[in-house]
Amino acid sequence: MRIGYDTGRGKLEVVAGVDLKVGREEILGLVGESGSGKTTLALAVLRILPEWGTVLGGRILFDGLDLLRMSEEEMRRIRGRRISMVFQDPYSSLNPTSRIRDHFLELYRAHYGHVDEKEVLEKAGTLLRIVGVPEEKLHDYPHQLSGGQRQRVAIALAIALKPELVILDEPTSSLDVLVEAQLMELFKDLRKRERISMVFITHNLGILSELADRIAVMYAGKIVGVSPTEKLFADPLHPYTRALIDSVPTIGSDELRTISGEPPDLRNPPKGCRFHPRCPFAMDVCRVAEPVMKDVGGREVACHLY
Ligand SMILES: Nc1ncnc2c1ncn2[C@@H]1O[C@H](COP(=O)(O)OP(=O)(O)O)[C@@H](O)[C@H]1O
Ligand code: SF4
Ligand SMILES: [Mg+2]
Repeated sequence: MRIGYDTGRGKLEVVAGVDLKVGREEILGLVGESGSGKTTLALAVLRILPEWGTVLGGRILFDGLDLLRMSEEEMRRIRGRRISMVFQDPYSSLNPTSRIRDHFLELYRAHYGHVDEKEVLEKAGTLLRIVGVPEEKLHDYPHQLSGGQRQRVAIALAIALKPELVILDEPTSSLDVLVEAQLMELFKDLRKRERISMVFITHNLGILSELADRIAVMYAGKIVGVSPTEKLFADPLHPYTRALIDSVPTIGSDELRTISGEPPDLRNPPKGCRFHPRCPFAMDVCRVAEPVMKDVGGREVACHLY
């Protein structure tokens, strides 16, 4: 899958080669530095790219359906009902002028037409209990809730219609670490309770260790590796993945190692391996030839070391 952005400053290929599968009831973590194209990829799946974004090639298959070939009408029936998304900033999914209850009513009406208000509000109350928000908040406006509660409401809306896939785009990044930890517990609870597949997007590899089944690592618009979570932490193969693990803060240590160098300018990405200017293992071949994805002991990795 390739996605281009046509910006005032020129054309960028912000997603330059991504091929990912999510299994049923699986949690796939998608990690990468800011600007690596994670949000763009998520928006493309739901076909809500900004107007300057275009899918240049590739397919998005969902349960045998090619999403890029569906009509807008068919897509509307899928969005929110079979695939839903939680954004980093809950304000982008909540309407500040509507009470929480009206968000639920609107969602059910959009997908089922006329609905029984009492029935929907009962369901909404149950959902709020599941995500840990007091039921009486149904009658409040978004600004009357805390940031963590707003995000919990966004999650309740995302799971309300029992979708098969929920894409969570940095759902805890705008919250403080304590609230983040509580939300991570909620996700673990939801995975047991609801049988949904999730794509969990984050720039923080550490928070995926207890949640994701597999982790895909993205660098400058490309997936550089996909691995079961345990193997990834025990023995990371790709040098960028190693660097990400080294930059995860550990308890009891103030030292935080950051990855040296800057992510590339996508208007003029490095030739060969896009990570080579920052890679401590770079060889001559890395500067000229792009590494292809290989199977290495049940893991996928795109690096000339393998
Ligand atoms: N509004 C925008 N205008 C121009 N370029 C953008 C815009 N949003 C994102 N980009 C470009 O697209 C790339 C990918 O962005 P994004 O998908 O938001 O990455 P991530 O979610 O991994 O931080 C960025 O490197 C940036 O250069
Ligand atoms: S291909 Fe080369 S530059 Fe790229 S990550 Fe592997 S060793 Fe480093
Ligand atoms: Mg993003």
